[in-house]
Amino acid sequence: MAKALIVYGTRYGATANTSEVIADTLRQVGYEVKIADAKKEKVQSINEFDLIIVGSGIQMGKWTSEPEDFIKKHQKELAIKKLALFVSCGGANPLSEGEQKNKELDNAKQKYLEDKATELKVTPIALGFFGGCYDFNKMSWFFKKTLSSVKPKLESAGYKETKTGLYDLRDLHAIRDWTREVAKTVI
Ligand SMILES: Cc1cc2nc3c(=O)[nH]c(=O)nc-3n(C[C@H](O)[C@H](O)[C@H](O)COP(=O)(O)O)c2cc1C
Repeated sequence: MAKALIVYGTRYGATANTSEVIADTLRQVGYEVKIADAKKEKVQSINEFDLIIVGSGIQMGKWTSEPEDFIKKHQKELAIKKLALFVSCGGANPLSEGEQKNKELDNAKQKYLEDKATELKVTPIALGFFGGCYDFNKMSWFFKKTLSSVKPKLESAGYKETKTGLYDLRDLHAIRDWTREVAKTVI
């Protein structure tokens, strides 16, 4: 049985849940899957895994530090493994229109995934550029204030609260489709 490892970092929970969706999809196509929240668990060895997926949420343009630390620690072994990266970010759902929207999408994908892979000196087989969640219940007072203008913009872009204070901007079908493509690279 092919074995996959998912290592993620999250601040507000979207990347944890997306990792569960990825794991569930991999299991459906025959993988054995281990998931590690990089903040809580340090994976010591990646030898046994055929596929490694590393993901992070983005805040103020930055990954969480723990998945980056994981990649740095295993950088040599990752060079001979199938590695995929993904991010959960607002940049995957720009609130602008037309040309500007495409420009913002391209810039975010470049910055959060392509440039990050270059910086971490890895060559991923796939890059997953996924939406995230705005959870106003979990934000600090400061960030809630900073992002107060985002709420009406989300509403006028047609996003609805999935529960009070939570806007989930993810496309779960796209996440599952991406995962099935990544899965095919091994089995
Ligand atoms: C304070 C704050 C800052 C954010 N900054 C960015 C950003 O710079 N770029 C971006 O694309 N998304 C940004 N987002 C959206 C997050 O990427 C989104 O909430 C995502 O779900 C975070 O991942 P996590 O839920 O796994 O922590 C920000 C969200 C918050 C709450």
